[in-house]
Amino acid sequence: MRALQYKAYGGPEVLEWAEAPDPHAGPGQLRIAVRAASVNPIDWKAFSGAMSGGEPMAGTGYLGYDAAGVVDEVGDGVTGVAVGDEVFGRGRNTQAESAVLGSWAARPPSIDWAVAAAAGVAGETSERGLRLLDVKAGDTLFVDGGAGGVGAVAVQMALVRGARVIASASEANLDYLREIGATPVLYGQGVAERVRAAAGGPVDAVFDVAGKTPVEDLISLAPEPSQVLSVANFTAARAGARVTGGGADSHPMEALALVADLLAQNRLVIKVQTFPFDRAAEAYRISQSGHVRGKLVLVP
Ligand SMILES: NC(=O)c1ccc[n+]([C@@H]2O[C@H](COP(=O)([O-])OP(=O)(O)OC[C@H]3O[C@@H](n4cnc5c(N)ncnc54)[C@H](OP(=O)(O)O)[C@@H]3O)[C@@H](O)[C@H]2O)c1
Repeated sequence: MRALQYKAYGGPEVLEWAEAPDPHAGPGQLRIAVRAASVNPIDWKAFSGAMSGGEPMAGTGYLGYDAAGVVDEVGDGVTGVAVGDEVFGRGRNTQAESAVLGSWAARPPSIDWAVAAAAGVAGETSERGLRLLDVKAGDTLFVDGGAGGVGAVAVQMALVRGARVIASASEANLDYLREIGATPVLYGQGVAERVRAAAGGPVDAVFDVAGKTPVEDLISLAPEPSQVLSVANFTAARAGARVTGGGADSHPMEALALVADLLAQNRLVIKVQTFPFDRAAEAYRISQSGHVRGKLVLVP
């Protein structure tokens, strides 16, 4: 099979769509024939070497944390799924013709493969963030970075919970935020003041999905520092905010089941831009620019 891969750290030019060993489903896993896999910033953080701790590269690097496709191998202990089922979910090295998923949900038949692929990381991260912040009906939530992959899903899933959502973006994405139901504010210098003005009252929780605003500004909006949660600024914990990278606080199967349901009901709409796998570098250049609307998705 072919997989997106890199043998040296660098920019998107290091990526190759080339032969790789076939993966197999271990216990509790599925293998899929991939129909689409999304780009997440963690992928370019990996191939740029930013996560290497200064160590030289050992072996070949592969990319991708979510995908959608057709099940072709079912691992020991997995029930309720059979070869031939159409699923989407989270895994490792998913930007390939064949990939292993560790958590999944059935693809709603009305949902495009690319949209389903885009929903894995963004959906699970959003469910986790909103649950940890205990966002409830009647709450006012600020999502900092609401137009990106995670942000746009978090905005819509918070609205489903009955919250009022204020979200930030660049000028170019303010209308997009309105379209998905948020009250838009410009990010950057003075964002906390603009959020306060838009809220016209207390803000109950802040979900930082961009990691760009000084955490002190975000904490100034919340009833207490722990009601600021970041998935992108891990130094925020020093100021009393909470951070999450998944792991023990993740409930991926429940999250993906919820996401599938919301997609099927059109209560969650994900805007996607697709690229063939052999043009992945173009998608990564856009992702690295930091100004993505919705999700970038790779397709065979
Ligand atoms: N910890 C976890 O579990 C977890 C999971 C998933 C993602 N993440 C991390 O979360 C971050 C976002 O991921 P993503 O997939 O949503 O990325 P993305 O699709 O590239 O979106 C980035 C968003 O950030 C916005 N942005 C840029 N500058 C900003 C600023 N100064 N203030 C506020 N927002 C700003 C952009 O808005 P404009 O386009 O309008 O400029 C864009 O919509 C990444 O760092 C990623 O690694 C963490």
